[in-house]
Amino acid sequence: MGSGKPLQLVELGPGNGTLLVDFLRVMNRLGYKPEDLSIHLVEISETMQMLQAQRLCITHKATNIESPYYYEGQTISGIKVYWYNDLKKVPNNFSWYMAHEFFDVLPIHKFEKTEDGWRELLIDMDENGKLYYRISGKETQSSKVLIRPPLDAGDRTELEISARSLGIARQLAQRVDQHGGLVLIADYGHEGEKGDTFRAFHKHKVVNPLENPGECDLTADVDFSQLRIAASKTPGDENYAIVAGPVKQKDFLERLQAKARLQVLMDNAKTEEEKEKIKSAYEMLVDPKKMGERFKFLAFYPSTMGPILEKFPPLGFVNEKENATEK
Ligand SMILES: C[S@@+](CC[C@H](N)C(=O)[O-])C[C@H]1O[C@@H](n2cnc3c(N)ncnc32)[C@H](O)[C@@H]1O
Repeated sequence: MGSGKPLQLVELGPGNGTLLVDFLRVMNRLGYKPEDLSIHLVEISETMQMLQAQRLCITHKATNIESPYYYEGQTISGIKVYWYNDLKKVPNNFSWYMAHEFFDVLPIHKFEKTEDGWRELLIDMDENGKLYYRISGKETQSSKVLIRPPLDAGDRTELEISARSLGIARQLAQRVDQHGGLVLIADYGHEGEKGDTFRAFHKHKVVNPLENPGECDLTADVDFSQLRIAASKTPGDENYAIVAGPVKQKDFLERLQAKARLQVLMDNAKTEEEKEKIKSAYEMLVDPKKMGERFKFLAFYPSTMGPILEKFPPLGFVNEKENATEK
């Protein structure tokens, strides 16, 4: 990809900014100067946006209505930071895009297979103001538009589709293909085998998503097979991405030498308590029963990189031994 400078780092849904803080530390070590790098954050929550500004920036302010970004700031080392409410407004330049636990919060449509075909599961309200699921009697616009090839429901009888996610995945693919860069998506998800994953969390407990609306965190596992289709070449597409993954977090991290990294952290830990904490955090990430298998990684590359990627497959996405034999 050349020098990779100037680089736009774009994060979708940066939360409390932890990944960015780590990222900036590493970029500094890699010799990126403030003028080589700008940060572009897509965030719709005002509360989260303010938290990010306070964590990352030494100065920050709201912008005027004509500006494509609604807020701007500067880090202590002088890197410019911009906030947008929509990916479409982020400048079309060479960029690295990151989306960590972003796609699982986007809205979904739910469908059920009936004798008459796929029907949308809607939400209604009873006379006491309580929300409940109601299956649509007829086909809805969403069932007509969203359930059609190349989507393959297989033998599932329940299906979740996030039209918003598919639109964003498509946009990301077009952006890297036209302007260069890469996309890394990390999330809880499956490869098209699950159909009912919509759930709510309240104070770290799983609760009914229809109870206490507005007070719980809502989430649905990402269907990576659908994101893959949205970003890959389909007949008539001009811009599309080469998609790597999805791979399980356990494999992704271990291929990127997570064990060696763990050892360094353990060697540097000062107390037994600190060592225990690091070890259990590592277990949380790689244990198949915790985040090791359910959490997955997916990457998009420009289509022009096809021959290069065939020769040098991206590290986290291929088995190291396979890679060595191929070369
Ligand atoms: C589950 S949090 C993940 C935060 C962080 N990336 C992490 O892994 O800890 C989801 C983030 O996406 C933001 N968000 C939710 N819907 C969004 C949307 N439609 N556009 C932009 N940001 C959104 C939330 O405000 C929050 O910052």
